[in-house]
Amino acid sequence: MVVGASARAAIGGCRRLITSRLVPTQASLSVSFQCRQMSMDSRSISEKLRNSGLLRTQGLIAGKWVDAYDKKTIKVNNPATGDIVADVACMGGKETNDAIASAYEAFTSWSKVTAAERSKILRRWYELLIAHKEELGQLITLEQGKPLKEAIGEIAYGASFIEYFSEEAKRVYGDIIPATLSDRRLLVLKQPVGVVGAITPWNFPLAMITRKVGPALASGCTVVVKPSELTPLTALAAAELALQAGVPPGAVNVVMGNAPEIGDALLSSPQVRKITFTGSTAVGKKLMAGAAPTVKRVSLELGGNAPSIVFDDADLDVAVKGTLAAKFRNSGQTCVCANRVLVQDGIYDKFAEAFAEAVQKLEVGDGFKEGVTQGPLINEAAVQKVETFVQDAVSKGAKVLLGGKRHSLGMTFYEPTVIGDVKSDMLMSKEEIFGPVAPLIRFKTEEDAIRIANDTNAGLAAYIFTNNVQRTWRVSEALEYGLVGVNEGIISTEVAPFGGVKQSGLGREGSKYGMDEYLEIKYVCLGDMNRK
Ligand code: SIN
Repeated sequence: MVVGASARAAIGGCRRLITSRLVPTQASLSVSFQCRQMSMDSRSISEKLRNSGLLRTQGLIAGKWVDAYDKKTIKVNNPATGDIVADVACMGGKETNDAIASAYEAFTSWSKVTAAERSKILRRWYELLIAHKEELGQLITLEQGKPLKEAIGEIAYGASFIEYFSEEAKRVYGDIIPATLSDRRLLVLKQPVGVVGAITPWNFPLAMITRKVGPALASGCTVVVKPSELTPLTALAAAELALQAGVPPGAVNVVMGNAPEIGDALLSSPQVRKITFTGSTAVGKKLMAGAAPTVKRVSLELGGNAPSIVFDDADLDVAVKGTLAAKFRNSGQTCVCANRVLVQDGIYDKFAEAFAEAVQKLEVGDGFKEGVTQGPLINEAAVQKVETFVQDAVSKGAKVLLGGKRHSLGMTFYEPTVIGDVKSDMLMSKEEIFGPVAPLIRFKTEEDAIRIANDTNAGLAAYIFTNNVQRTWRVSEALEYGLVGVNEGIISTEVAPFGGVKQSGLGREGSKYGMDEYLEIKYVCLGDMNRK
């Protein structure tokens, strides 16, 4: 099946904000970055990474590192500096078909490896990821921009999925069902789905891969991973460590480059039995449609529009700290970031003042600089989107309480921003901002808050701040969201299910529920069981 032109544009490989680019050519990159010679810092860090064997630039097919067949490459940039960090193989349909063939072949043996053995290999992978957390963190900061401490935190978070699913591998139980006829025995087997196509975003270059590949390998599936072409280096380093851990050739393949061609190949192959994707809702819908002709399973983790609801009875410090964490993690570039801060009348002014004061203390800069908590946005398109949203809000009567413009550091840095008096007709209330802008929306009653919070097609994460236990239950139950944080702004963990309702996606990742996404249920009926 061939994805239509608009799907091609949308798949683009880039998360949420970048929908026009098909292949990241030098020309298109120069729109986003003033590419330049590498600064000493970037150079010495990438030199160190190269020496450690973790700076890989080729794709991985059937256990071998390979160039693009036509030798094309794409440039990976450091968004904080514009430095070109590496030239990476720009692969397409041909390489993807070979990767699928290798995954298909590897499935025959990997699916038969005992759960105990798969578990040991995954455990070794986890240990290697942790042992290399500093270098992997540096890679994330280099290609994605998030502060080094946060990047190393992502390595721990990403590795936790491999550890968790190394344990879950051993717990894939079937069932025996009481039979309705005396000569029968009814069994349920759980078996791996098959070859999985995993398409992952740039905002979590490791964790969004391990949250998919961990349960896939644990259940006996094999995988073709397509990381974002903006951040392929972390994916390639993680794949190198998977090989070192003993993941057999072909069980994990990595191809990147021409996203539309790769997407088409994954969707059209009858050998690929599942597509798992984290990214924009628009692309998720195209993938769902593209998976229909071959009736593939799909898991989609799509965009959000998270409300953070601060009730009058909240503890002010807890609400400020929680909302700050939920909003400014990864400079606002997560799908669970608070997108709208709903604040009740009685606490609005106090909250707005305390929140703006806390936001003012955030330090913006190159993620390698000590003390920096806010890195750059991923590219120029991301900054332009934020600018458009802020202009729209201000033109409709919202007030900039803090920030509201590009940062004096230039590049793609944007000032941490707080906007007051935001209303539901403004773009930033309706769409995912994916940047460091916190819109404050005033509400009167609990019913108002629930109505405003649910007035969106998205339904991924929501946060509430209250000290009333009855309200906690009532509101948690009424919110049309897949995840709810109460008095807490960072709630993701490998042990809990992650996923959305409404147009925020299908399926769950992480936790025991995350395994089910990679398992087929087979019913086996044994007849003639009374014969001696
Ligand atoms: C995402 O932004 O897609 C993932 C965030 C998380 O895992 O907490």
